Amino acid sequence: MKNDPEFFPRLSKQHAPEYLWIGCADSRVPANQIINLPPGEVFVHRNIANVVVHTDLNCLSVLQYAIEILKVKHIIVCGHYGCGGIKAAMENRQHGLIDNWLRHITDVCRLHADKLEGLEEDKKYDLLCELNVMEQVRNVCSTTMVKNAWQAGAELSVHGWIYNIKNGILRDMDSCITSEKQLEEKYGNSV
Ligand code: CO
Repeated sequence: MKNDPEFFPRLSKQHAPEYLWIGCADSRVPANQIINLPPGEVFVHRNIANVVVHTDLNCLSVLQYAIEILKVKHIIVCGHYGCGGIKAAMENRQHGLIDNWLRHITDVCRLHADKLEGLEEDKKYDLLCELNVMEQVRNVCSTTMVKNAWQAGAELSVHGWIYNIKNGILRDMDSCITSEKQLEEKYGNSV
């Protein structure tokens, strides 16, 4: 504060982040530190295994507020390798209530069974972390808020990233989607 006495007065006056981060609740993947942005620059939603569930009012409310009020330009879905939620979903045993949330990950497994089949456990784990990001990007793009924003001509990009907690490398999964047309090209027509 000594270096920047105006920091808090400035911060308190406006909330106009350009980014919405949807990430895992894991304590090792804090949004601001990973993308090196100060307070005020990124709106954040986190849950176990960075899942965007079609009927999750918490996540949907965050999306609506971010898109319609804050008018963010970028939505980043960021997964991470070594995700405990993904690992738990792969295990053949109960973990309690959380297994109901993790059913969404087992759905991703089922949807991509052909890609995951026959892989070694480690490779399967990493690939499932990646496939989950792609699936959640698709879910973000399929929300009424994102569709309406695109239809209204808003500049809104949805990105899929994955973070490696072993080396700190953040990778863009080449999944930037900026329109409904791109969504169809990438994921097919069944959106
Ligand atoms: Co995680």
